[in-house]
Amino acid sequence: MEIKEAQFVVSNTDVEKCPAGNRPEYAFIGRSNVGKSSLINMLTNKKTLAKISGKPGKTRLINHFLIDQNWYLVDLPGYGYAQVPKAERLKWEKMLRNYILKRENLYCLFVLIDSRHPAQKVDLDFMEWLGLSQIPFSIIFTKSDKLRPVELEANLKAYEEKMFETWEVMPHYLVSSSETGLGKEEILSYIDSVNKN
Ligand code: GTP
Ligand code: MG
Repeated sequence: MEIKEAQFVVSNTDVEKCPAGNRPEYAFIGRSNVGKSSLINMLTNKKTLAKISGKPGKTRLINHFLIDQNWYLVDLPGYGYAQVPKAERLKWEKMLRNYILKRENLYCLFVLIDSRHPAQKVDLDFMEWLGLSQIPFSIIFTKSDKLRPVELEANLKAYEEKMFETWEVMPHYLVSSSETGLGKEEILSYIDSVNKN
């Protein structure tokens, strides 16, 4: 699948004010600076659709993008970054929790993890909460261009081992690079297959 048209619709702080939930929706979540907004731009072939920054805490709202007049991509604020003031983090976390639990057309939440780093407690706890809340999610390991293939493979293996401490089965995952476009086809095919189910 290739995205032909992507347009910004609206930004919100409140899930109740988001567009009517009558289309499939896919949202990107993860630690601040992990590359959520960059990945949306990569998938849609639009360099400036979602706002990106080298400084964590750029995305502050729930941002809806309408794709091919048919389904939504959603860019969300990051969680768990010490550089973002605590009051702001707590506000975002509440907004994110409400969005995740109440958005009935959320077909899949993509949890982005920086492929360079060892497993972080904040991500592991978050995914455990998703599992307990029965929210469908997939992992995307980002910034793979920053690693050599052997390092990437070793990091993925170490991550799986860590996940097996809590999970009986490794959740579905993909690997991406917004620099090289790696993972684009896989992520879009995955979305396409979920859309058709
Ligand atoms: P917040 O909105 O602050 O939560 O961040 P975000 O997760 O949306 O990250 P964003 O897309 O703004 O990217 C953060 C930084 O990482 C920017 O400097 C990007 O250029 C860089 N970046 C994102 N994805 C990649 C990638 O795949 N490879 C490389 N090398 N850099 C990336
Ligand atoms: Mg962002």
